[in-house]
Amino acid sequence: MNERLKPKIRKHSNLFSESKKVAVSILSVLLIFAFVNTLFYPSFYSDSGSVQRNLVDSREKLDFPRKSHKTRVYMYDLPTNFTYGVIEQHRIARGGEKSDNVTGLNYPGHQHMHEWYLFSDLTRPEIERVGSPIVRVFDPVEADVFYVSAFSSLSLIVNSGRPRSGSGYSDEDMQESLVSWLENQEWWRRNNGRDHVIVAGNPNALKRVMDRVKNAVLLVADFGRLRADQGSLVKDVIIPYSHRIDAYEGELGVEKRNTFLFFMGNHYRKDGSKVRDLLFKLLEKEDDVVIKHESQLRGNMRAAKQGRHTSKFCLHPPGDTPSACRLFDSIASLCVPVIVSDGIELPFEDVIDYRKFSVFLRSDSALKPGFLVKRLRKVKQEKILKYQKAMKEVRRYFDYAHPNGTVNEIWRQVTQKVPLIKLMINREKRMIKRESNEGQCSCLCSNQTGIIHGV
Ligand SMILES: *[C@@H]1O[C@H](CO)[C@@H](O)[C@H](O)[C@H]1NC(C)=O
Ligand SMILES: *[C@@H]1O[C@H](CO)[C@@H](O)[C@H](O)[C@H]1NC(C)=O
Ligand SMILES: *[C@@H]1O[C@H](CO)[C@@H](O)[C@H](O)[C@H]1NC(C)=O
Ligand SMILES: *[C@@H]1O[C@H](CO)[C@@H](O)[C@H](O)[C@H]1NC(C)=O
Repeated sequence: MNERLKPKIRKHSNLFSESKKVAVSILSVLLIFAFVNTLFYPSFYSDSGSVQRNLVDSREKLDFPRKSHKTRVYMYDLPTNFTYGVIEQHRIARGGEKSDNVTGLNYPGHQHMHEWYLFSDLTRPEIERVGSPIVRVFDPVEADVFYVSAFSSLSLIVNSGRPRSGSGYSDEDMQESLVSWLENQEWWRRNNGRDHVIVAGNPNALKRVMDRVKNAVLLVADFGRLRADQGSLVKDVIIPYSHRIDAYEGELGVEKRNTFLFFMGNHYRKDGSKVRDLLFKLLEKEDDVVIKHESQLRGNMRAAKQGRHTSKFCLHPPGDTPSACRLFDSIASLCVPVIVSDGIELPFEDVIDYRKFSVFLRSDSALKPGFLVKRLRKVKQEKILKYQKAMKEVRRYFDYAHPNGTVNEIWRQVTQKVPLIKLMINREKRMIKRESNEGQCSCLCSNQTGIIHGV
């Protein structure tokens, strides 16, 4: 115990002097910046009607310098058939009654319920939004961005597992009708939707109308179903799945984690799943590797929790799309993620270095017999502890229910898009013609092939 304390304290004092150094250098840079600015651009800071001020748009002139640095979000008051009405339809398809007052309905839990958390965040009183980088405005004139709160992921599963004709609900009609509604809005038309934020958490959500909403900032789980001209890391925001298993609250350590490697999921899924099947075949032979089949049954949720809470490593092969659907469950469980998914996109990578708590393996390496298990067995106990500690620190980022968790982080990402949105809007207004058949750097596309790095 004592031995473990000593190096920790030393590390802290090191860290302190390091951060002091950093602080001093940042301060000096800022001072130089301020000096140069006042010297060369005095009119920018003075209040006299300068040319500078006539160039910025009228809204910005009014509140210059800005009192609040928060991004101003206007949430559309959508017809209820795009929000609560979808909840009602979901109930009706499952034998429920029509409701007199749909706004009293509870949103049903599922792995793409981000749309509900974001909607609830914007409907709650301002003072409850602690630490939020945004402020809700009720006048569209004041808005930096417009939030479209349609429950697109829930709509997708209204009829799932049910006969098509069942309730008469059609997700595709909802999509069409939503976009028609949007295209009728003056604020949408003003900038072709560029300053709008639309949540499409499920990789198949809004698929039918994607071409009509692709200018917007899309909140997506991955780019697996989007073309290079529809989604990009620059324009859009990768959001985590809303994990559904309880966080592990026990001690850090490996003593109670008797399973070496755990995986729970479906064997065969559509595309991208060859790796998955081959990995299963390889791993089935190992003694302390547990592979479980998944279904949506309650008992399985318990098994998933139990499995992740008692394993050292949790495997994440690609599914239908290269996203990390169960990754966030593993992080909540402090089970070290082993990610074998070459094209994976991960949320909040500007602030989170996933290698601090995950093992990334190229799929061609992972598929060499014996490679994966051998590689993981080499990871020392202290290293696992380090990973667990790091996971505990970042867990909040993947917790939608945390008061300063995922929702605030998503808004922070949206806030970072605002300067780019303005750039694109201004640029588009003067652009006369653009050759647009191929991806080009200016289209913000993400079409890059090839493995850059990996073991
Ligand atoms: C509908 O239900 C909500 C929440 O339960 C409540 O706040 C609202 O007042 C109700 N509206 C009507 C018209 O009854
Ligand atoms: C919320 O999280 C951000 C960073 O993710 C942090 O800078 C901020 O201090 C936190 N706010 C509160 C109130 O905890
Ligand atoms: C949703 O409501 C709007 C306005 O009330 C209506 O025009 C539209 O047809 C409805 N769409 C669907 C799919 O019910
Ligand atoms: C991406 O780029 C490659 C080569 O530049 C091209 O062959 C491929 O068709 C492009 N893919 C998409 C989806 O545009």
